[in-house]
Amino acid sequence: MFRDYDYHLPVLYTEVLETLLIKPKGIYVDCTAGGGGHSLGILQQLSSAGVLISIDQDPEALKATKLKLESLNQNNAQFILVKNQFSHLREILNDLNIDKVDGVLADLGVSSHQIDTADRGFSFQKDGNLDMRMDPANSINAADIINNSSAEELNYIFRMYGEEKYARKIVAAIITERKTKLFRSTFELVDLIKKVVPAKSKREKHPAKRVFQALRIAVNQELKELEDLLNTLPQCVNSGGRIDLISFHSLEDRLIKHKFQEWENPCTCPDDFPVCVCGNVPLGKIISRKGITPSDREIAENSRARSARLRVFEMI
Ligand SMILES: C[S@@+](CC[C@H](N)C(=O)[O-])C[C@H]1O[C@@H](n2cnc3c(N)ncnc32)[C@H](O)[C@@H]1O
Repeated sequence: MFRDYDYHLPVLYTEVLETLLIKPKGIYVDCTAGGGGHSLGILQQLSSAGVLISIDQDPEALKATKLKLESLNQNNAQFILVKNQFSHLREILNDLNIDKVDGVLADLGVSSHQIDTADRGFSFQKDGNLDMRMDPANSINAADIINNSSAEELNYIFRMYGEEKYARKIVAAIITERKTKLFRSTFELVDLIKKVVPAKSKREKHPAKRVFQALRIAVNQELKELEDLLNTLPQCVNSGGRIDLISFHSLEDRLIKHKFQEWENPCTCPDDFPVCVCGNVPLGKIISRKGITPSDREIAENSRARSARLRVFEMI
């Protein structure tokens, strides 16, 4: 197994490859190529008749994935790299003249490379541009949101996407500060949060952790992307094909869990109806009801795996 520790260590690697039930001649999509770790694992299980489509919105991720897949494609399977958002999966497959695929993986969130590159602005532990765009061509970055959003908008972002208890205090301080000086760097925001939140909360987690998560979700419209992907997936996967989705926080996990439940049991008839009249038929079944979490050993080796949860659905 090839693992690129520098770019990103794939989480739940064995579990993903086992649950995708990869057929050597099948067509598979990795919606989040990142450093290409999972993509390579899938590619290496395909024969020369198999196809892997690896999508990412970050050109750097596609560059790293290309290098890895080109150098380790022992079976000469076909792979196609696509720079796009995974919410456009249906259009991406249409452009490739593909109706349906045999399995889809999405490993949500950011890669270690994105977090560790200070100037991408994802890390509250590194000083860099307050950016946070996964796709550098996006028009809005984190500084734009901090400098231009209304107090209500900022409060909504921090509370809804970060579950930040001290949202109101932090927002009030931002609004005062930006009257004299606009925010440009991650540490300008971190320093302000450190001054505002009470000392006792600083002992629990890094005081900027929740605000940074919230901003990242807002900049990249992560929940909307996931919702759109979930809405398009049933039209993209063959009967017997598996959908593997890895999330890293409860907001995403809840969306996935509820959508899988709806797919498995879409009937909207009242409980006391003797037979179903709504006509909604199940799309498949949930594999592993609670989801699959990393082993203690994986967490010890890779602390970023700690909050990962893999949910798997099989299409009828
Ligand atoms: C956790 S990393 C994936 C790591 C990958 N599984 C590996 O083994 O290296 C997530 C990747 O998904 C990409 N990404 C996140 N949201 C996306 C979206 N909506 N559309 C396309 N790519 C996205 C990010 O740019 C990042 O490279």
